[in-house]
Amino acid sequence: MRFAIVALLLVACSTDDNVAGPPDGSHEHDAGRDAGQDASAPDAVIIHEPSGLPCDVAGVLARECTVCHSQPIEGGAPVSLLTLADLTSIVPGTSITMAAYALERMMDQSMPTPPSTPATSAEIAIMQSWINAGMPAGTSACTPASPYDGAPTCTSTTMWTSGNQSSPLMHPGTACIGCHASTTPVPSPVLTMAGTVYRTVREPDDCNGVTPSATDPITVTVLDFDNRMISATVNAAGNFFSTDPIRPPIQYAIVTRGSQSRVMASGQASADCNSCHTEAGVLGAPGRIVAP
Ligand code: HEC
Ligand code: HEC
Ligand code: HEC
Repeated sequence: MRFAIVALLLVACSTDDNVAGPPDGSHEHDAGRDAGQDASAPDAVIIHEPSGLPCDVAGVLARECTVCHSQPIEGGAPVSLLTLADLTSIVPGTSITMAAYALERMMDQSMPTPPSTPATSAEIAIMQSWINAGMPAGTSACTPASPYDGAPTCTSTTMWTSGNQSSPLMHPGTACIGCHASTTPVPSPVLTMAGTVYRTVREPDDCNGVTPSATDPITVTVLDFDNRMISATVNAAGNFFSTDPIRPPIQYAIVTRGSQSRVMASGQASADCNSCHTEAGVLGAPGRIVAP
């Protein structure tokens, strides 16, 4: 009997969640990210994939830099670092190329922006030898170097198929807090921070995300407006969530696995991570939150 009532209420909630939204898959009713941004506007196409560069150089930039140094630029970055012209341009007010400046910023570990993991010595060596060689253009097409431009896929090959059945593994990829902002209409837990971590950037809703092993956990941490750090551990569906009080906007988010991390250096209006980190990405997000 209780099941029947809950099921009815769930239908009401799921209808709300599944109304045909804008083509970017964003969910209209998420009250958590309404700080003056037009949440329903689909993003213009953002290019993260370098072009015209040798594939090893393109690979370094795509892995470490072009989530922000994209076209158009994201995350407060001042310039794009995608093409030969971008990299051979002269930094205004100096006599050095942007490539040399980029190398300098990788070596002094100020880029990628802390607290991201610094570029490796192998990555620095690739940039260094390309610059020493006179920055030749690339001669062959690279397989997608950017994790942000891969073909859509459900990497885990398994989907959540249990509808709105109560579970911490439920509905990976969807905007959790859209349903979990309050205990009405259904008595679900009130989540303050929630989302899903995937292997790649374009994965559909309800596709199960990464399954961290017990010895190699993945943790998500945000710093809220009141300088509180709130952490959550990624579960077998790639989901993470917290019920601790959080005061938005959040100042940054870090996804950590061992010594590796991926960082959202920009502040965001809400901690309903999947509301922006949809398959296509909205409000400037590159797509899914990808495991470090
Ligand atoms: C999370 C976003 C982000 C990532 C990732 C990132 N940057 Fe930046 N970058 C910025 C921001 C913000 C600035 C401006 C503030 C500053 O100069 O420190 C910047 C500035 C720069 C500048 C100075 C450009 C100028 O004209 O003043 C260079 C060069 C640069 N980044 C290179 C890199 C390289 C190389 C990588 C990868 C190894 C990288 N960045 C990764 C955000 C990022
Ligand atoms: C379509 C609405 C909807 C979405 C989207 C949704 N949930 Fe739920 N969730 C519910 C409902 C309804 C319940 C349980 C109601 C009950 O039976 O008490 C629930 C229950 C839960 C529970 C309690 C499980 C337990 O056994 O204690 C957790 C944890 C949870 N959800 C996490 C999430 C996470 C994480 C996401 C996003 C990845 C999410 N939910 C997305 C509706 C939703
Ligand atoms: C309002 C939209 C929005 C919300 C909500 C949001 N993000 Fe982001 N996210 C972005 C944007 C825009 C970027 C790209 C700029 C940057 O890295 O700062 C980004 C980038 C990231 C990155 C770096 C990209 C990568 O894979 O290297 C991570 C990690 C991330 N977000 C995690 C999170 C987590 C965790 C949450 C929830 C606590 C969250 N985001 C909530 C918009 C959002």
